[in-house]
Amino acid sequence: MLQLLEASGAATTVRRADYSAPAFWIDTVALTFDLDPAKTRVLNKMTLRRNPEVPAQALRLDGDELNLARVLINGAGCSFKMDGNQLVLENLPQEGAFELEIFTTCAPIKNTKLMGLYVSNDSFFTQCEAEGFRRITYFMDRPDVMASYSVTLRADKAKYPVLLSNGNLVEQGDLEDGRHFARWVDPHKKPCYLFALVAGKLVAREQRIVARNGKEHLLQVYVRPGDMDKTEHAMQSLINSVIWDEARFGLPLDLERFMIVATSDFNMGAMENKGLNIFNTKYVLANQATATDVDFANIESVVGHEYFHNWTGNRITCRDWFQLSLKEGLTVFRDQEFSMDLCAEPSARAVKRIEDVRVLRTAQFPEDAGPMAHPVRPDSYIEINNFYTVTIYEKGAEVVRMMQTLVGRSGFAKGMALYFERFDGQAVTCDDFAQAVADANPDSALAKLLPQFKRWYSQAGTPRLQARGDYNAAERTYTLSFSQSCPATPGQDNKEPFVIPVQLGLVGASGAALPLHIQSDLASVGDSHLLVLTQASESITFENVNEEPVPSILRGFSAPVILDFDYTDAQLLTLLAHDHDPFNRWEAGQRLALRSAIQSIVDSPDGIRAKGLNHAYVEAMRAVLRHPTLDAAFKELVLTLPSETYIAEQLDVVDPQRVHAVREAMREQLARELLADWEWAFETHKANGSYRPDTLSSGRRALAGLALNYLCLAARSSEDTVWPGKAYQRFKDADNMTDRLNALSALVHSGHELAKPALARFHSLFKGEELVLDKWFALQAGCCDRGGQVLPAVRALMKHADFNLKNPNRARSVIFSYCSANPGAFHRGDAAGYVFWSEQVLELDTINPQVAARLARALDRWKKLAEPFKTAAHEALKRVAAKADLSNDVREVISRALA
Ligand code: ARG
Ligand code: ZN
Repeated sequence: MLQLLEASGAATTVRRADYSAPAFWIDTVALTFDLDPAKTRVLNKMTLRRNPEVPAQALRLDGDELNLARVLINGAGCSFKMDGNQLVLENLPQEGAFELEIFTTCAPIKNTKLMGLYVSNDSFFTQCEAEGFRRITYFMDRPDVMASYSVTLRADKAKYPVLLSNGNLVEQGDLEDGRHFARWVDPHKKPCYLFALVAGKLVAREQRIVARNGKEHLLQVYVRPGDMDKTEHAMQSLINSVIWDEARFGLPLDLERFMIVATSDFNMGAMENKGLNIFNTKYVLANQATATDVDFANIESVVGHEYFHNWTGNRITCRDWFQLSLKEGLTVFRDQEFSMDLCAEPSARAVKRIEDVRVLRTAQFPEDAGPMAHPVRPDSYIEINNFYTVTIYEKGAEVVRMMQTLVGRSGFAKGMALYFERFDGQAVTCDDFAQAVADANPDSALAKLLPQFKRWYSQAGTPRLQARGDYNAAERTYTLSFSQSCPATPGQDNKEPFVIPVQLGLVGASGAALPLHIQSDLASVGDSHLLVLTQASESITFENVNEEPVPSILRGFSAPVILDFDYTDAQLLTLLAHDHDPFNRWEAGQRLALRSAIQSIVDSPDGIRAKGLNHAYVEAMRAVLRHPTLDAAFKELVLTLPSETYIAEQLDVVDPQRVHAVREAMREQLARELLADWEWAFETHKANGSYRPDTLSSGRRALAGLALNYLCLAARSSEDTVWPGKAYQRFKDADNMTDRLNALSALVHSGHELAKPALARFHSLFKGEELVLDKWFALQAGCCDRGGQVLPAVRALMKHADFNLKNPNRARSVIFSYCSANPGAFHRGDAAGYVFWSEQVLELDTINPQVAARLARALDRWKKLAEPFKTAAHEALKRVAAKADLSNDVREVISRALA
């Protein structure tokens, strides 16, 4: 037992400062797999040579849960030793290349971690990023070792008719005993985290396309035989991605064949393996009967994301995992731009931007303020899987977006071109990228401020930007003064000022955009100005300002900061009604709602004697809802109150029950006071004609769905049965999943008795549809809690025949929907939610540490909780920490939370 513990490796901290180049290079890898669920045999023949730039040393190869059978050097047996999980080879040839042959076996069927080679629905899949390849064979499992791969797959032909790996299929044929083989050669060198294989009973939707240069490519989307009717959208998204990357960045598809394969068992969203992307079914499968508009949009963006990795990630990869945001931040930025560029209407671009910012602020800002806060380029980690975070991805994307803001859209394209010119085929760093963008734009603010700008990579925490406006009527000047600060984060007590690009404008009392004059002798700079802040405090003065303006600051959310400005309600109402910048228009409404919420929470310590939303706000919401020209999608965003999580982040001490009660009271008030408007909104937006998931009609469905939700909520207090009845009817008759699910959730969230038969009917309609059943589970686990019924319901759901803890999507649909997405139900006065959480973290940790560690983060912000929640959460964390053999994944998250 002791030995076993030792062999599995004690937790060690990996530090960015300790990076050293690999002691060996692996030039070629020839892998042969005899696929068998219980015992797969892997023969790995490599050619290696010493890296002459590194002092001579032993070769250390990583492994994990492998059975080692044989090691040969240049065809002859050799001595080796084990050091923990590493295979160590000394006395290797000093000069020239040598061949190393390693024969191992592994047990894919037992692989519940879903890292390395595993079985899902009787097919084989792999996941190697970040460190899964070592679970397939002994290897230098680090991204800066790039090799040429050829792969031979052998398996039973009847059970596994399709055999796929990276690159091109060069040979296939039958073997004895009903087996067959396929040989794949990848024309591109790659790090091992991009290796993939798939084997099973799959079918493919195929499409041939001709690129601008006349080259033909084969695109394939592989799914289980019953799922072919859900592949059209993913294929169209892939085609759009190929076209977009070539048009916007001049980056063509560099493969003859590009494959996407869907699996139901997947830890994350998808994976960009070279030429063979493997996806969670959730981000591939869609048709109007089973997928919502949001699903369609997510598929488009994830297909884009993985495809764009082909250049940003695969052609140029990361030197080490501390540079993860080099590929992820950049690729998220690219997928966001892709989705925006695909929007037919400019207003839809703004909607996409608002949605992206909402994710950043509800998920990344809390991360950056909590125990797991880390820089976009971290300095250390224990388990790299814990660093696939919203900070690396979404904040990383904001950093890239600020670069584009500073150099302009075409300047950024030049920067990308220089980046590829310099580094194609290499493994590089975040610094290399920033330098390339700056060097391509030598006269830009980015080039001038580069060292300071790069603090966005090194300093964690969300900067706070305090702004003040002073109008001097006599001088007709308006001065905006800014001061920035950034709170301490783990390991970083003091922060230096950031480069903060602030897009701003001035709005007159009547709502007109005021022309901006920065110096009286200069002509107006238009009505929007990019101010680049670099100091702890600084100011800007506008001249020829004829009236006291309302400043519209941080337009388009031009930097990932918290902006404090002491707006009056009247000023916010002006921005909400008139600002030309749709982002700030939406933001003004959010600020007003947030202000009411916080006031109610603070004013009524003993419950809901809160004043509620003021008349002016309600009227402003009515005006937006009834506005003749605004888009439905935009209206839906404005009419949606800030989430409980976002409200909680604004408070120093959080009573989640009060936050929930106050927000619900606000929702009920909006439901009541806008009743006739909601009816109007529903009736005028419900009919769509034939279904298409485009932004315009999705927006209409979203607004109709929100209206129905409010109408059922209003019906609750008035005992009206008309709207619940209409919701039930719509639920039954809907010809698409968006309308159907919206109607169902209106019933479920309002707690109406029709929810019960509707849920039963929904289940029987979609028995065989895993992804739809996930929605069924998630809706119930995420249901508004009225009297503590949700937790018992969640426990009951986990006993349902369709529940399976080993399937990450299903586990997420129940456990995460409850613990991470339903604060009002999770944070119970009796601590039962936390008890449930600790049980599930511990149970999941024995199955899948990556998923368990994500769940562990549901209590990240426990120190902010009011009593009795805080003490109870602390107990739950200590209960988990007390388990001796936790995974590194969960151990790291829990110890940071307790630190
Ligand atoms: N590179 C993938 C993507 O963002 C994510 C893979 C994450 N895998 C993991 N085991 N953490 O597209
Ligand atoms: Zn990615």
